[in-house]
Amino acid sequence: MIIYLVGFMGCGKSTIGKELAAILNLKFIDSDEYLENKINKSISEIFSSKGEKYFRMKEKEILFEISKMNNVVISLGGGTPCFNNNMKIINNTGTSIYLEVDALNIINRLKNDSNQRPLIQNIQGNDLDQFIRNKLDERKVFYNLAQHRIDANLSISDVTKNLYNIITKKHV
Ligand code: S3P
Repeated sequence: MIIYLVGFMGCGKSTIGKELAAILNLKFIDSDEYLENKINKSISEIFSSKGEKYFRMKEKEILFEISKMNNVVISLGGGTPCFNNNMKIINNTGTSIYLEVDALNIINRLKNDSNQRPLIQNIQGNDLDQFIRNKLDERKVFYNLAQHRIDANLSISDVTKNLYNIITKKHV
């Protein structure tokens, strides 16, 4: 069983994924962390030294690898579903859930937390608002290919509880 959490940066995938894995007694993997450990470089370093195209290629390789695992909750990088037909692999190998957060909440969550995020680290103020709104619109098309969608504007514990209900009530 694989449960994939997808959604924009700042939607809580990793925090919620860890909690969910603990409750379900499954392993937890953050795909970005997995890549960082594998090639011994931070995501920011990969972007700055090799560029986004290289990162997307590595991201797909990692997805291939982790999609063969079992009994795991996987939190995917915010861009993973949106490149290289990755949603196909995701939906063919597990249960996918989109953690949906409104643009305004994402903006507020990311405003003070952009340093470790190469996509937005040099964007501020109104430009950041606009960038997030545009990117989210663009990416929703891919996130909506997930098999389930959940309102992730709520508290971490409420989102985790609702996710648990989806997973245990509907067979995975
Ligand atoms: C990205 C999101 C990041 C990370 C990379 C690119 C994106 O993951 O994979 O910085 O394209 O949205 P998080 O969503 O975990 O921040």
